[in-house]
Amino acid sequence: MNNYDIKDIQLAEGGRRRIDWAEREMPVLRSIRERFKKEKPLKGLRLSCCLHVTTETANLMITLQEGGADIVLTASNPLSTQDDVAAALVSNYEIPVFAIKGEDKTTYFKHIRAALEHKPHMTQDDGADLVSSLFFIEMGRFEKLEPSLAEWAKALGEDERKQMLKNVIGGTEETTTGVIRLKAMEADKVLKFPVIAVNDALTKHMFDNRYGTGQSTIDGIVRATNVLLAGKIFVVAGYGWCGRGLASRARGMGAHVVVTETDPMKALEAVMDGFQVMPMLDAAKVGDIFCTVTGDINVLDKHHFEAMKDGALVANSGHFNVEINIPALAEMSAEPNLVRPFVEQYVTKDGRKINILGQGRLINLASAEGHPASVMDMSFANQALSAEYMAKNADKLEKKVYSVPAKIDNEIARLKLQAMGVSIDVLTDEQLHYLSSWEEGT
Ligand code: NAI
Repeated sequence: MNNYDIKDIQLAEGGRRRIDWAEREMPVLRSIRERFKKEKPLKGLRLSCCLHVTTETANLMITLQEGGADIVLTASNPLSTQDDVAAALVSNYEIPVFAIKGEDKTTYFKHIRAALEHKPHMTQDDGADLVSSLFFIEMGRFEKLEPSLAEWAKALGEDERKQMLKNVIGGTEETTTGVIRLKAMEADKVLKFPVIAVNDALTKHMFDNRYGTGQSTIDGIVRATNVLLAGKIFVVAGYGWCGRGLASRARGMGAHVVVTETDPMKALEAVMDGFQVMPMLDAAKVGDIFCTVTGDINVLDKHHFEAMKDGALVANSGHFNVEINIPALAEMSAEPNLVRPFVEQYVTKDGRKINILGQGRLINLASAEGHPASVMDMSFANQALSAEYMAKNADKLEKKVYSVPAKIDNEIARLKLQAMGVSIDVLTDEQLHYLSSWEEGT
């Protein structure tokens, strides 16, 4: 197989070992893989997957391949690829991968182009870069595309561009930010095929976003800096699913946690969970470590950098690298120095050092390994079963964003508990009757 673009095929053996290591913690996905092997529910379907290239994603790819799918995998972020995993997928599983850790924007979109050239019947996205490229191409909105991708798309001709979209029966989306983009597309009536919002499954966001992002973000910050969290003031921007997990884990490591929010309900929850809540401008003055997890833009902006203490560590774990306004910091500072891998130090005109981790890209994937396999087991069980559901039901679905069917979500929870050796009670007939009757209770 020569159609791939990875860093170094020689890295394959190490990648294979790490993929196997992750598999131990993915019993639900493993049971789906065994069924897929027999039933081949994705037979004859071309899948283009734009996901973080990690050991857990590799296990998803292998599952989809066992299900009969013809796959191409590209990165969903320039910094999140594990090069050894990319090499193992190509070398050991013959899955074409287009992803290199640290790739520039042009290469990133050259890789998205490879996913489009695969002429997918189905897409899997993490952040909706693949589907939004597809729609801009079909609409002829070339100005919205990265220049080299635009050039390629223009050269295709209108018929081929339209055909590329017609091939697609549906897609799935992994993350909060991607789901927000897709719902906006649906509202603007530009969504051209059904998409299942994997992120909206309870067995995804309650576990992956909370426990996965919580732990791996701390892991990323610590690996990048080796900072001691105990006694530090740790500012978490955003108290959604990811923020809740991050705040509680930072507290568990002995940090004094400050939360910033814009939603009164979430802010109130943070207060009652025992965190200090304040506007970012106040937090900026006291924080030692900052981490944004909002999915929003310029959450840390020029006026916040102006207030920060010397030595502040600043990271992001939200999907896009827009949460920290790095261009504004660059304008206030001399040329940054790379003082450690993943730590760029900006010295402001008044002499304060502000350290940006992982170029403001999701730090848990930039400087650590992303979520542990045990939570990705459930997220990717949702991906695999949603792909199967889409293959069977796409003709009945409208051009909308759908939730993962509750039946799939509950089944994943049941299988996960079973794999963990945890049993639970079952409602008796009497309890079922009581809970469904309005006449009881007097
Ligand atoms: P969420 O919607 O549950 O929470 C986001 C929170 O940020 C909301 O409570 C919102 O009110 C708050 N917020 C928005 N603007 C704000 C501002 N300017 N200042 C303070 N708070 C603000 O979303 P969730 O699931 O927690 O995801 C957050 C981001 O993390 C998304 O971009 C998502 O795609 C990404 N994500 C990253 C992962 C990773 O591996 N690093 C994994 C899962 C999600």
